[in-house]
Amino acid sequence: IFLGCSDSFFHTFVSDKTITITFKTKTNHLSSMIISIPREIMPGESRVAATPETVKKFVADGCEVLVEAGAGEPSYHHDKDYEAAGAKLMTDTQALFDKADVILKVKEPLFNEQLQKNEADMMHEGQVLITFIHPASPVNHEMVKKLAHNGVVALTLDGVPRISRAQNMDALTSMSTCAGYKGMIMAANDLPYFMPQMFTAVGQIVPARVMVIGVGVAGLQALATAKRLGAITYAADIRPMAAENAKSLGAQVVDTGVDPKLAVGEGGYAMRLPDDVLAAEREKLYPTIKEMDIVFCSALIPGKVAPTIITEEMVKGMKKGAAIVDISIDQGGNCECTPPGKHERIHDVMINGIKNIPGLLANSSTWMFSQNIYNLTKYLTHDGKIVLDPQDEICKGITVTKDRKIVHAGCLEALGADGPLEC
Ligand code: NAI
Repeated sequence: IFLGCSDSFFHTFVSDKTITITFKTKTNHLSSMIISIPREIMPGESRVAATPETVKKFVADGCEVLVEAGAGEPSYHHDKDYEAAGAKLMTDTQALFDKADVILKVKEPLFNEQLQKNEADMMHEGQVLITFIHPASPVNHEMVKKLAHNGVVALTLDGVPRISRAQNMDALTSMSTCAGYKGMIMAANDLPYFMPQMFTAVGQIVPARVMVIGVGVAGLQALATAKRLGAITYAADIRPMAAENAKSLGAQVVDTGVDPKLAVGEGGYAMRLPDDVLAAEREKLYPTIKEMDIVFCSALIPGKVAPTIITEEMVKGMKKGAAIVDISIDQGGNCECTPPGKHERIHDVMINGIKNIPGLLANSSTWMFSQNIYNLTKYLTHDGKIVLDPQDEICKGITVTKDRKIVHAGCLEALGADGPLEC
């Protein structure tokens, strides 16, 4: 019997009568995984999935990290810093995809105009992709089918549940924090007047009044930012807990008149309101909206179209020069007039429907994102490979495709399928 011998020693003695039994030692680190970080190809996207700081951590964990040359430039992370952190820079994008065990990205796979290929078709069987996929959204269904068909294990960051142990992996919360802060700064920038109270030689300037509708992660950050800028703040939310949080930030809570039993569903998330209840809410909020200098719209029901809180008629009644920033635009918007992806003066109100606000805060959002994705990758890795425990709430929430099947509940519901869908 040979125990603990090296391969060469073993082969010296091996004969056709030798039976080999291999014992593997259990290591709980990321060793030997190849992680690829492509440059993001969505026009205007300035984020990247890894910083030199997280590359260093992956390398210390025993991974090989491949970074596409120039990937970090828009967020002020330079190639030489990635190299110094231990990454290998690559210019051949397809080779970067080919070599990876795990591909980390910010945006869902998109069509690469330069290579004339969809990123989903640049991936192969057994690879793991971790990024924001938004698999329930109909515009992404074809891409999700491609990922399943190509045998890619696709994991979506928007599926990380909002539970305590997943907080440091929750990129959606990080990005909402960025959108709340930057969105409020953009609203302040749109105002034709000062935000804080001022005493000047010619008289007093009154502080701006700001209302935030939907005080979840983004809304609370927007409120805090408005307060720091010196505004008087108001808040409305159908979840009593959210209204309480807003109050603790010094905002005056405006009653929506919505019964909490209709508003709060499983897990404490907001529910879609019946049309008549939503109409009554609009009536309740309108007198306050009319008085506001800024209305920040961040009301959302997870996985559903955003509720309409401000109609065109209501915009007509608002103060001249007021500003609306509608960050729920990806889900259809909270204001009827919000121009998707644009910034326009409508009925003398500046309405901002700009998408990808975190990208405008390129360095901070990249830093938060890269820490979240590092923590998630580390959480999922056992013995040098990604392992998805079917009983684990986090794994269940994020898995979109596996074994050539679509398994994500929201995506299957949207596709009208009643079980995993083979592609
Ligand atoms: P969240 O789920 O934490 O908060 C949404 C809040 O809206 C909840 O507190 C909910 O109770 C409230 N709400 C739902 N229906 C309402 C109603 N009828 N009236 C008043 N309040 C209502 O969501 P989070 O993370 O704060 O995101 C908010 C929005 O911002 C989402 O639409 C999200 O997609 C968007 N977002 C946009 C970004 C951008 O770049 N444009 C970036 C990040 C987030």
